[in-house]
Amino acid sequence: MGVFATTAEPGTGHEQVVFCQDQPTGLRAIIAIYSTALGPALGGTRFYPYASEADALHDVLELSRGMAYKNAMAGLDLGGGKAVIWGDPDQLKTEALLRAYGRFVESLGGRYYTACDVGTYVPDMDVVARETRFATGRSRESGGAGDSSILTAWGVFQAMRAAAEHRWGSPSLAGRRIGIAGLGKVGRYLTGHLIDEGASVVATDVDERATDWARATYPQVDLVADTDTLIRGDIDVYAPCALGGALDDDTVAALRATVVVGAANNQLAHPGVEKQLAERGILYAPDYVVNAGGVIQVADEVTGASALSASGRYGFDFDRAKARATRIYQTTLRILRTADADGVPPAVAADRLAERRMAEVGRLRGIHLR
Ligand code: NAI
Repeated sequence: MGVFATTAEPGTGHEQVVFCQDQPTGLRAIIAIYSTALGPALGGTRFYPYASEADALHDVLELSRGMAYKNAMAGLDLGGGKAVIWGDPDQLKTEALLRAYGRFVESLGGRYYTACDVGTYVPDMDVVARETRFATGRSRESGGAGDSSILTAWGVFQAMRAAAEHRWGSPSLAGRRIGIAGLGKVGRYLTGHLIDEGASVVATDVDERATDWARATYPQVDLVADTDTLIRGDIDVYAPCALGGALDDDTVAALRATVVVGAANNQLAHPGVEKQLAERGILYAPDYVVNAGGVIQVADEVTGASALSASGRYGFDFDRAKARATRIYQTTLRILRTADADGVPPAVAADRLAERRMAEVGRLRGIHLR
């Protein structure tokens, strides 16, 4: 498989794909930059035991493209990129490996900023940041944004309010029944926002620790055995907050909710699911629009390096990031309305708006500045 051939598939057009190897530490990483039209590429590092190099490459190309669209729709002056480290983090992850990786990130001179993703955590970014200026998602003690699931959940909640406004004419979720699949970092914060709002929550998780947490923290949450039971139940909104591919042919056919808003990335199992949802009258708020709160949170580390906050300080500013994540409400509403006006599913409307912003704002780079 050739990288040029892969990146030249219709609809893709990666600027740069970098293979990084450090044999003593076992580091094998691929950094993919989809677009820097809006600014330096930002996206997390996934540390995962892919079955093959081809799988790792495929994933990083898909994920980096997704980040370009997510960052564009979040209104950030950042392009899209992503990195994968190929291997089992439990076996391979060491300080030396993370620092070797950090040196490769640094070698790109700021074309790519990294962050946490599956298999990498805030303390890992602190280690990576010892070798590069271009790591976000660092700990608060190191001046970073910390746990990005806080604003991811806040943004999902705002998107859910926007979808309620669009569907029912009021953003209030009070009295609505929300089904959450996945009570992980994001699902837990989201549960809190919904309970505070006066919604009723039904949830499921495969991990007993997560359901134990729910029983102890929010005894009013109804717990069900599995996602299948959840989606066939009497819910107004379905919030997939576990893994990708949550919306497939069977799920869409069985779903009783008329609104889907959740944190999970890549919710549509295959192209065409967005049409099936629309045909069944289910309002689907596109995943990358809804879950942008996390990237907005870590992107504030980049913004904060050169912008004073309202409190007169440089560096990460939670209030500024939260204000930006709150705007996911307006962005979601705009996409849902544009989709109606254009007669296309919201996922298509979002892609079009993201592509337009990348083209229009990216074009400005053609105006020469000293
Ligand atoms: P997490 O790993 O903390 O939580 C995921 C939860 O889903 C876990 O409790 C897990 O046990 C549960 N789960 C796994 N398979 C399940 C299944 N079949 N049925 C029910 N529950 C299942 O992950 P986190 O950070 O909460 O993220 C959730 C989703 O949101 C992921 O898809 C992630 O990629 C996405 N996301 C997260 C962001 C963040 O800032 N944390 C940002 C943007 C997207």
